Amino acid sequence: MKISIKKSFLTLAAGCALVLSACGGGQEDSAGKQTSEEKKVLQVGTEATFAPFEFMDKGKVSGFDVDLLNAAADEAGYQVNIENTGWDAMFAGLQSKQLDIGMAGVTINDERKKSYDFSVPYFESISMMAFKEGTDIKNAQDLKGKKIGVQNGTTGQFSAESVVGKNSPSISKYETAALMFQALQSGDVQVAVTDIAVALEYVKNNPDSGVKTVSDDQQFKPEYYGIVFPKGSQYKADFDKALNELYSNGKYAEIYKKWFGKEPDVDSLKEAAKQ
Ligand code: ARG
Repeated sequence: MKISIKKSFLTLAAGCALVLSACGGGQEDSAGKQTSEEKKVLQVGTEATFAPFEFMDKGKVSGFDVDLLNAAADEAGYQVNIENTGWDAMFAGLQSKQLDIGMAGVTINDERKKSYDFSVPYFESISMMAFKEGTDIKNAQDLKGKKIGVQNGTTGQFSAESVVGKNSPSISKYETAALMFQALQSGDVQVAVTDIAVALEYVKNNPDSGVKTVSDDQQFKPEYYGIVFPKGSQYKADFDKALNELYSNGKYAEIYKKWFGKEPDVDSLKEAAKQ
């Protein structure tokens, strides 16, 4: 009796293994055939505390960047697998080529262009200051003498440094945008410097927080987001083409309106692409 139970268990296990391998094998077979529906899955990293561009919603990364990247991938004939890797790990993953794409509201700048390739610009931004009501901030010069919070290694940090100096002890650097906003809320810092749309979204989502915003286009300059690729990536050209197609066929405008409730200025993006 004992033996036969063992035997039938083994038979069952073997049967399962067969079914499983038959299943897996089937998928491999169809992938091997390279049918037109079989799309290459690109691995994407992000830092998903950056609403409305990327944030976690019921366990999934969502936001403007997610919709745009999905549309571009679709256009270019790829599938994307977006993971909330975090900011630094995203860049490390691109360097080591474990990731094919970084999509995180990443500003195109000369320093980053030394190590990564960028798509054509897909969003115009500028730094903005967010602070609790009653804090004396009218322009960027008022950052002097204040406790400042930024997300580490972002243009918010560079904007703050342009006023109070690099390595200024008045700047606290946080690993995520969420931690920066928490520090503002708890009073650990008096002012956060981050991207305009993210600051405005924070105020919109936290109407009782008493947080106000001020921008300063004398001190802070316009910047543009791009999709990030490892240097020399074969995918950049496909995604540039796809983005341009989404600009022309109205799909970019559709996604933009969904998240920002207004028409985008596609011409200024195209203009920025020439620089
Ligand atoms: N645009 C800024 C930069 O590139 C901030 C991006 C932060 N993105 C994020 N997903 N937390 O430096």
